[in-house]
Amino acid sequence: MSVLIINGPNLNLLGQREVSIYGEKSLEEIQYLTEQCLENAGICCEFFQSNAEHEIIDRIQSTIDDETEVMIINPAAFTHTSVAIRDAVAAVEVPFIEVHLSNPHTREPFRKHSYFSDLAIGVIAGFGVQSYLMACERAIDFLKQNELDND
Ligand code: DQA
Repeated sequence: MSVLIINGPNLNLLGQREVSIYGEKSLEEIQYLTEQCLENAGICCEFFQSNAEHEIIDRIQSTIDDETEVMIINPAAFTHTSVAIRDAVAAVEVPFIEVHLSNPHTREPFRKHSYFSDLAIGVIAGFGVQSYLMACERAIDFLKQNELDND
C-alpha cells in the first residue's frame, strides 16, 4: 500500500513564510511526521514538493505506472488557478484527499474556489500540520477499507 503526498508552490518555505497563517513547522518536519504516521501503519509514503506546475502534473501522471493507491494533495496557490493539475488528477483516477494548512474560506475571496474539492474524497483545511496528519489517518482508513472490500 502506498500514499503519495504532493505539495505545491511556496510550501518549501514553510516555517519562514507567513508564520501567523501557516505556522512554524518546516516542510521537512511535516514530511517526518506524515511519513512516521503512515509507516507506523505499514504504508509506504513518498513526499513530493515542487514550485512548477508541469512537475506536479508529471508526478501525478506517473501514478499510472506506480504503486500509488491514494494521494494527499496540498496544491497551494494552484488550488485556485490550475485547470491543468485538476485535469491530471481526473485523468489518473487515483483517489485523493485535498489538504490545506490554513482555512482558505476565511481568507481573501480568490481563495474560496478550489479546482480540486469536487474531485476529492474529502477536504481537510485550517488545522495547520494536523490537517496533514488527519489526512494520513483518513488515507489509512481508506486503504484498510479497500483491502477488506477486495478480500
Ligand atoms: C494553502 C492555501 C492556499 O490558498 C495558499 O496559496 C497556499 C497554502 C494552505 O495550505 O493553507 O500556498 O494551500
